[in-house]
Amino acid sequence: MSSKKTGGLAGVVAGESAICTVGQGNGLNYRGYSIEDLAKYATFEEVAFLLQFGELPNKIELQEYKEKLTKARSLPEKLKNILENIPKNAHPMDVMRTGCSALGAIEPEFNFQSEQDRVIIRLLGIFPSILLYWHHFHKDGTKLDTNSDEDTIAGYFLEKLHGKSPSQDVRRCMHVSLILYAEHEFNASTFAARICASTLSDTYSAITTGISVLRGPLHGGANEAAMKLIDSFDGIDEAVKGVYKILEDKKLLMGFGHRVYGEDGDPRSPIIKSWSKKLGGDTDTFKISEAIEKVMKKEKPQLPTNADFFSASAYRFLDIPTDYFTPIFIMSRTTGWAAHIKEQRANNKLIRPSSQYIGVENRNYIKLGDR
Ligand code: SDX
Repeated sequence: MSSKKTGGLAGVVAGESAICTVGQGNGLNYRGYSIEDLAKYATFEEVAFLLQFGELPNKIELQEYKEKLTKARSLPEKLKNILENIPKNAHPMDVMRTGCSALGAIEPEFNFQSEQDRVIIRLLGIFPSILLYWHHFHKDGTKLDTNSDEDTIAGYFLEKLHGKSPSQDVRRCMHVSLILYAEHEFNASTFAARICASTLSDTYSAITTGISVLRGPLHGGANEAAMKLIDSFDGIDEAVKGVYKILEDKKLLMGFGHRVYGEDGDPRSPIIKSWSKKLGGDTDTFKISEAIEKVMKKEKPQLPTNADFFSASAYRFLDIPTDYFTPIFIMSRTTGWAAHIKEQRANNKLIRPSSQYIGVENRNYIKLGDR
C-alpha cells in the first residue's frame, strides 16, 4: 500500500476550532450536530444559521434570516456592468471571485464587529445572482430579474438557472448537497481564509481568498473534474479499462482520496450517492460512476470516494452545467468560511508559521563585473 506523501502539513494540528469535527473517529459534525441528521432533517438555511451564529435557529430566527438572505439577492448596477464585461468564455469560478471582490469595492466593510454578519448574509444571498446574471447575459442576452417566490438559496438558484421552479426532490437534493459542502474544518480554502482574517483583512478579501483556493482541482474543482472523467467513458466496460489505465499511469482519479479520511471513507459520500441514485440510478452516468467506484474499492481501498465523486452525477441529474459545480461549492462553503473568519477574529493571533531552511549556506557578495 502506498504511503501518504509527507509535506502539505499532513497530520499537523494547526490550531483550535469549535466549529466542526472531521475524521476524529466520531464522524463529521457541525457544532455537535451530525451530518447525517442535518442532511436528513435540516434545510440549508438552518445549517447556514448554525454555522454563522453557533446555534440552530428557532422558527422566528429562521424566518428573519431567510428574509435577509432574500433581500441580499439584489445586484448593484455597478456590479451588473462588471459582470457584463467578464468574457463569455471566462471560467465561472473567475466570475464568482471577481464578483465577490468587486462587491467589496462597491459595498465596503469598515467595521468587522458591526458589519461582518451583514456582509456574510449579503454574499450568501448574492452569489447565485452573480453567477446567473453573467450566465443569462452571455448565454441568452437577458438580464436576470432577482425577484422570486423561491424562499431558499437552493430553490432560487435552480429556478433562475432553469427558468422554472424545481420539483420537490430536485430542490431537496440541492439542499442536501449545500449542507454536505458547507463546512469541513481546516481544509485548504478555509485555512487560507483564516490566514487572511488573521491579518485583520476584511471579510470580502477572506472569502475571495477561499474562492481562489477552492478553484484548484485537488480541492473544490474535483467535482467538475470527476464529471469530465465519468463523461469520458461510453460504457461500463470502457470505464473499467480506463480506470485501470489511469492507475497504471499513476495518474489521479478525481473524486477519490482525501487528506483526512482513509479506508473508512468520507461520510458525505454515501449521502450524496443515495441522492444521485434516487434521481438517476437507472442512467449510464450513474452506472459508470458505480463501476469506477467498484474498481477503486478493489484496487485502492485506501482511496474512497470523497464528497465530490457522486456530487458530480447528482448535479448532472439536477441539470447543472459541469463548470457550475464548483461555484455551487462556493455558495455552500461561504457558510463554513464565515464561521472560521468570525472564530479567528474572536481570538485573533496572526497566523505565521516558520519554514525549515534547506537552501545554500551564507556566502559573500560577488560584484556584477566579477560574475
Ligand atoms: C476536497 O481537505 C478537505 O476537507 C477537502 C474537502 C472539503 O470538504 O473541503 O473534503 C474537499 O477537496 C476533497 C478532495 C477533492 N480532490 C480530489 O478528489 C482530487 C483527487 N484526490 C487527490 O488529489 C488526493 O487524494 C488528495 C489531494 C485529495 C489528498 O491527497 P494527499 O493527502 O496529499 O495524499 P497524496 O497525494 O500524498 O497521495 C498518497 C498516495 C499517492 O501515491 P504514492 O505517490 O504514495 O504512490 O495516494 C495516491 C497518490 O498518488 N493518490 C491517488 C489519489 N489520491 C491519492 N491516486 C489516484 N487517484 C487519487 N485520487
